[in-house]
Amino acid sequence: MSVAADEIRRAADLLRAGELVGMPTETVYGLAADALNVEAVGKIFSAKGRPADHPLIVHLPDATHLARWARAIPKDALALARAFWPGPLTLILKREDGVPDAVTGGQDTVGLRVPDHPVALALLRAFDSGIAAPSANRFGRISPTTAAHVREELGDKVALVLDGGPCQVGIESTILDLSRDTPVILRPGAISADDIARVIGRRPEMRKPHAEEGAAPAEPDQPRVSGSLAAHYAPRTPLQLIPAARLAEEAATLAGEGSRVAVLARTCADPKDARLTWCNAPSDPAGYAHGLYANLRDLDACGADFIVVEGLPETPDWQAITDRLGRAAVGSGDGEDPLPERDET
Ligand code: TXA
Ligand code: MG
Repeated sequence: MSVAADEIRRAADLLRAGELVGMPTETVYGLAADALNVEAVGKIFSAKGRPADHPLIVHLPDATHLARWARAIPKDALALARAFWPGPLTLILKREDGVPDAVTGGQDTVGLRVPDHPVALALLRAFDSGIAAPSANRFGRISPTTAAHVREELGDKVALVLDGGPCQVGIESTILDLSRDTPVILRPGAISADDIARVIGRRPEMRKPHAEEGAAPAEPDQPRVSGSLAAHYAPRTPLQLIPAARLAEEAATLAGEGSRVAVLARTCADPKDARLTWCNAPSDPAGYAHGLYANLRDLDACGADFIVVEGLPETPDWQAITDRLGRAAVGSGDGEDPLPERDET
């Protein structure tokens, strides 16, 4: 979907004036602000209801901007930027002087990426500087993958939502920490550990998720990654992941107890059971990820008492999706806005 040039200009002017703009990317929609304007960045945190020490990703028009935001840039970072930007890979690098604490959560690192979406790239080129943008959802909720989702979540908080159509990838970018000796994936995404290893010649480690919901980082100097905390991406309806072999039986049992049950599965086991609301997901990881958040939103809105989701293969190509579903299960079911101590983005 294209956006007219005068709307891009208007969005860039709004960013210069310190306002917030809904920005499509290939992963999810972002809540965009001028990354160098501390007051504008503050508006992001209040609009989302997000704790102020959670760092934001800075989006750049292209890799030539890297040096203004990061220092001591390792050659692996340049190789990965060449290979995957524009694209769904965020690099955590040592920050350059002048990058506001408001963006980095006071850490000495900054998250950077060039998004692969024509509307985001047009806005970034018109703005010609870094745009801070977390996912445009309320804190702890499902990330938006359409302009309508952004209006639902934050409509009264944004000056403008650019409609770039449904996001192609559908889940957030891979986050790779290159600020230490060992590369570590802090959040899995469409760009896999194998993809990264092919470029840098070594396999990044995978950061272990925190055991407890909202737990503090295991090591004191570990960066806070709200997308790595247990409760995240959560529907209000309780959500359970159930192994494929037991899915139909368990859904039928719940329904037999009088519950209204919504099911997300790759194969429709028994569409005739009228007590169940079925949502069929594509059987390939890219297709599944593309529709995941919209499917979860629909299932959350259908009035069910439970959402049951078919467990997915434990293979690397499903890892980013299983990660999001696991967090959705942990955070689900409070039926209202998240409590401040429940952590996420
Ligand atoms: O695909 C995406 O990455 C989307 C689109 C809009 O670009 N953005 C996104 O932003 O998912 P957000 O804020 O929802 O998630 C960004 C994650 C957070 O978990 C944050 O903690 C982490 O990136 N992050 C940002 N800067 C960091 C840093 N310096 N060190 C460690 N983690 C960082
Ligand atoms: Mg987020």
